[in-house]
Amino acid sequence: MPKDFLWGTATASYQVEGAAFEDGRGTSTWDTFCRTPGKVSHGHNGDIASDQYHRYAEDIALMKELGVKSYRFSIAWPRIFPDGGTHQNPKGFDYYNRLIDGLLGAGIDPAVTVYHWDLPQPLEDRGGWPNRDTAYRYLDYAKSCFQALGDRVNNWITLNEPFCSSILGYLIGIHAPGIRDRKKAYEAIHHLNLAHGLGLAAFHEGGYAGKIGTTLNLSTPRAATLDQRDTEAADRAADLGTRMFLDPLFGKGYPARHLSAYPEVKMPIVDGDMELISAPIDFLGINYYSEQVVAWDEQHPEHFRDVPHYQAETHMDWPITPWGLYRQLMFVHKNYRVPQLYVTENGCAVDDRLDQTGTRCHDRPRIDYLADHFRACAEAIKAGVPLAGYYLWSFIDNFEWSFGYTRRFGIVYCDYADQRRIPKDSFYFYREVIAGNEGP
Ligand code: FCB
Repeated sequence: MPKDFLWGTATASYQVEGAAFEDGRGTSTWDTFCRTPGKVSHGHNGDIASDQYHRYAEDIALMKELGVKSYRFSIAWPRIFPDGGTHQNPKGFDYYNRLIDGLLGAGIDPAVTVYHWDLPQPLEDRGGWPNRDTAYRYLDYAKSCFQALGDRVNNWITLNEPFCSSILGYLIGIHAPGIRDRKKAYEAIHHLNLAHGLGLAAFHEGGYAGKIGTTLNLSTPRAATLDQRDTEAADRAADLGTRMFLDPLFGKGYPARHLSAYPEVKMPIVDGDMELISAPIDFLGINYYSEQVVAWDEQHPEHFRDVPHYQAETHMDWPITPWGLYRQLMFVHKNYRVPQLYVTENGCAVDDRLDQTGTRCHDRPRIDYLADHFRACAEAIKAGVPLAGYYLWSFIDNFEWSFGYTRRFGIVYCDYADQRRIPKDSFYFYREVIAGNEGP
């Protein structure tokens, strides 16, 4: 890896903070969703999570020991604007000031995701992301983040995975707010893209010194065979996950081929929106976990279907496909003029257990997963992809959305009974990689 390659690690507010009812924090859609029977495994919720709100100093000390140059975390919108409106909670930024000052004191650069899914519930009550007004509420919120923290934060990410916020939240219903309505889902897509554009414009108008970009989870499946129809299927399968987000960001508008498959859908574009959305970003963040394989299917409205894969799977049942990361980085590099790329999330869930001593966790499958994905990154850089850094998901075990605490992604084990932190073997492996003693 290049000498200045940025090794980091990532989390998100609702997944690690806990302290859900402290210091004036309002309710988010995830608080509500977790309390809706049948939505989250075992009815788990983020009330305590990995308790980073209280244990951030211990976590920063561990990050320092690890040697990461950057920590990606998100801000909980309901801590800043508990009612989702303009009433700012004075204690809202206190925690993030403590966290950021602690990180800087340890020589770790903060990378802040403004929105990682914890929408204030009052905004959902007024229609959520399908309502255009939510994008303007996001603008107020993002502005307040830039104003409060912009003197110390050099890396800003407007949104995390708007695909999940819109499609999982409003079409498939497996994420908060749990709605199943295609029209609403596509309105949500546009308003999330708009929120990004509005945030970007405010950042530029404010003249802040740092860099700003956004984070997407793209879908770039491979074709099952060399048959031209399967290749076409794979290309079409990238429309929703990739082109509905990347194309407007890069001035190409929404993909007509995809929209024509769903005539009931209408993108609620207002004059000027697409210009805002396509303003230049400094970098694009990619969250990558797995790659699907698809074949042509006459029956599907977009003519593709998933077909079986042979690879071993992680504890999420996601196939382990490191070369899919290489392919995805190449796809983005070839088709869009992205000045700089980061992998803002990559990692895997393992059914981790502590050993008999209770002080070690031997997570060999995670080490293998990481090593293979690091190699894919190194190859992409060799092939000319401007990949500047990598954030491992996740620093610590945490609340894995609808899976609750049943899936562990951390390189630090969290004992939820007493909040003890135990670095796993992968923590020591990552430390060696960062120190330059291990490949790639
Ligand atoms: C991503 C999310 C992140 C985490 C990982 C496993 O989709 O951005 O919060 O849950 O998946």
